[in-house]
Amino acid sequence: MKIIILGAGNIGSTLGSKWANKGHEVVFGVRDPQAEKVQALLAKMGQGTTAVSISTAAANADVVVFAIPGSAMAATAAQLGSQLNGKILIDTTNNVGQPVMGSLDVLRQAAPDSPIFRAFCTLGWENFAVPVIDGMQVDLFYCGDGGGEQTAVDNLITDIGLRPVYVGGVETADLLDALTRLWFIMAFQKGYGRHLAFKMIGD
Ligand SMILES: NC(=O)c1ccc[n+]([C@@H]2O[C@H](COP(=O)([O-])OP(=O)(O)OC[C@H]3O[C@@H](n4cnc5c(N)ncnc54)[C@H](OP(=O)(O)O)[C@@H]3O)[C@@H](O)[C@H]2O)c1
Repeated sequence: MKIIILGAGNIGSTLGSKWANKGHEVVFGVRDPQAEKVQALLAKMGQGTTAVSISTAAANADVVVFAIPGSAMAATAAQLGSQLNGKILIDTTNNVGQPVMGSLDVLRQAAPDSPIFRAFCTLGWENFAVPVIDGMQVDLFYCGDGGGEQTAVDNLITDIGLRPVYVGGVETADLLDALTRLWFIMAFQKGYGRHLAFKMIGD
């Protein structure tokens, strides 16, 4: 698939490297494509990965992944506007400390007919880089519009090395926010560290 990742920081670079290794075409949409750190990332990734300006990034994508600060989501979605139509949109962003951490409403408003998902928001990026802990595959709980696109998102999560666990439609996003809060508490307040995930088990 052609995946546009907006943001090339911890989340963007980690997901992008994995997807490129799985044969996806990855393009980073960033504020400054010539920035030293962006160029260093591209050089490290090789495989034809490119970076373009955010304003035109989403034009020819199958999937647009938002990996920028939550506070930048409204302006970025407005900037991209109709480019988002018909694309699978994945929101990884967290407005930490806010009652609603994600930006699904912003995306729905910007692209009412596009399938939207909230994923890769509940765990630190280290768990995407190394998705196995103590011999167990890390689970990734996610939500969003069902239908055929859910299979595509499942596959993208699997390509990272994670086990996808679909929680439900966008109305279940508050459960992911709760899980994110739990992760922050266990990782930092309780001192378990960032390579930490929650496992669903059952028959
Ligand atoms: N870090 C984690 O473990 C983690 C886990 C789950 C979810 N998240 C969420 O994922 C998102 C990205 O986190 P991250 O750790 O990857 O952040 P990061 O390393 O700081 O990278 C942020 C990226 O967003 C870009 N950016 C910053 N301000 C922007 C703006 N106003 N408009 C457009 N782009 C902007 C940055 O580009 P410049 O170089 O131009 O500043 C950079 O490429 C955040 O919403 C975060 O809450 C993070």
